[in-house]
Amino acid sequence: MVHINAVPGDIATTAADAMVVNLFEGVTAPEGGTSAVDKALDGAISSLIEDGEISGKKGETTLIHTFGRIPTKRVVVLGLGKQDKFDSHVVRDVSASVARYLRKLKVKKATSLAHGASIGNLSPRESAQATAEGTLLGLYRFDRYLSKNGGDDDKELEELTIIEQDGAKLDALNEGITSGTVLAQSAQLVRDMVNEPPNVMFPERMAEIAVEVAKETGLDCKVLGIEDMQLLGMGALLGVTAGSAREPKLIILQHNGDPEHPEDNIAFAGKGITFDTGGISLKPAANMGNMKSDMGGGASVIGAMRAIGMLKPNINVIGIVPAVENMPGGRAQRPGDIVRAMNGKTIEVDNTDAEGRLVLADAISYAIQEIKAKRVVDIATLTGAMVTALGNVTTGVMGRSQTLVDALLEASYATGEKMWQMPLFDEYKSQNKSDWADVKNTGGAPAGSITAALFISEFTEGIEWAHMDIAGTALSSKESGHIVKGATGVPMRTLVRLVQDMAAAKDV
Ligand code: BES
Ligand code: ZN
Ligand code: ZN
Repeated sequence: MVHINAVPGDIATTAADAMVVNLFEGVTAPEGGTSAVDKALDGAISSLIEDGEISGKKGETTLIHTFGRIPTKRVVVLGLGKQDKFDSHVVRDVSASVARYLRKLKVKKATSLAHGASIGNLSPRESAQATAEGTLLGLYRFDRYLSKNGGDDDKELEELTIIEQDGAKLDALNEGITSGTVLAQSAQLVRDMVNEPPNVMFPERMAEIAVEVAKETGLDCKVLGIEDMQLLGMGALLGVTAGSAREPKLIILQHNGDPEHPEDNIAFAGKGITFDTGGISLKPAANMGNMKSDMGGGASVIGAMRAIGMLKPNINVIGIVPAVENMPGGRAQRPGDIVRAMNGKTIEVDNTDAEGRLVLADAISYAIQEIKAKRVVDIATLTGAMVTALGNVTTGVMGRSQTLVDALLEASYATGEKMWQMPLFDEYKSQNKSDWADVKNTGGAPAGSITAALFISEFTEGIEWAHMDIAGTALSSKESGHIVKGATGVPMRTLVRLVQDMAAAKDV
């Protein structure tokens, strides 16, 4: 993995395989550190701008060979886009693009300016954090099953050093790098878990990873097996696992950041369906393999808990993951079955493919009854209807606590993971009515994401609750900025940010 750090110095005179300088779009004369390098190269950058070869467009990369005029052989001019659109999200994305570009050039050691920390409007900390996140997330690839790792460009960038002339900014830069690295590594863990094939990433394996995370960070970890679930009366979860040969696990990770106030806490419940065939309501074959990502909510919770365990905010956080495989078979549950959830409510299983809400029902009941959670946020690849509504760009957020929903949206603005609130009006509730049980696990086609969320709300017992449907955002079909093909890691960084914001609000 690439090592990132910040040191004082003059980028023009520091030797490396390549250096990254930057340029805002439409700027005719380079500024700041880029201007110093331009001068050392006898105006090579300015003349390329003049000739129209460099525009500064967001993510543009232009290679200039220095032929001995400075100790570094190659200069990459990185476009930062328009100055009035510049923010930390731009830095994250262009850092990812340039890191992949450097890797293609087989560069091992690169230096870089701190993008936007002197002539942009970013603090050195924000700039460095976004650079670390973008670099690590942009270089991420899941190639452990390829005999030739990395394909044709199998060389890894080894070192990225941010060179800063103003020594007063160094501490902030290095703090940003440290937190950006923790967040990106945790997001990489989320991506790895989601990208792993479903014959490897099954409930027991998820639990093993949670145990490893707990060991690494000092979090408390508890894993419940099927007998514990039977004793607790988790009939909804047990119905889903009935067709699977894999034992289900309920994973609980706990960060005691404020042990004097155990009641002041927040729980994250992440859907951990390690493969969703649909069960007896079997899914069509096309793209069914993508349903290995149906544990993306659970993986994001484990990743978030890892980061929280390392960053140690002064607030109590609990991560709960019901890890279950949804399979058809002779022992599988049937459409028409009625099950009883841990909170006593009966559920008519109208469609065995609406299994996420069933496992979450019991996970949330556990959080409330056994852990005395004060607030719950659940995260789930819950509905195809969410993909229809918001596509692959935006996570849908709903909830009974507008305070919690607002806090989540606020956190998402800071991380750049796009989210939007959808309504939970009571008028939709009648769609979940069953003739035979307290509630039915399907609400029909109209507003399918809303009725799914309303089903979950039946198990939240009036505590502060918000819900994130990541069905469209857990996977990406294309590479773009810090996002690469496959698992995205969403919404791990937003969960951590929410907790950090809540902890900061307690400090004052
Ligand atoms: N895991 C799926 C939802 C999903 C669909 C996630 C596409 C990612 C991409 C979920 O368990 C499911 O199958 N939901 C059904 C519910 C329906 C039967 C009420 C759906 O959305 O079709
Ligand atoms: Zn399903
Ligand atoms: Zn599912």
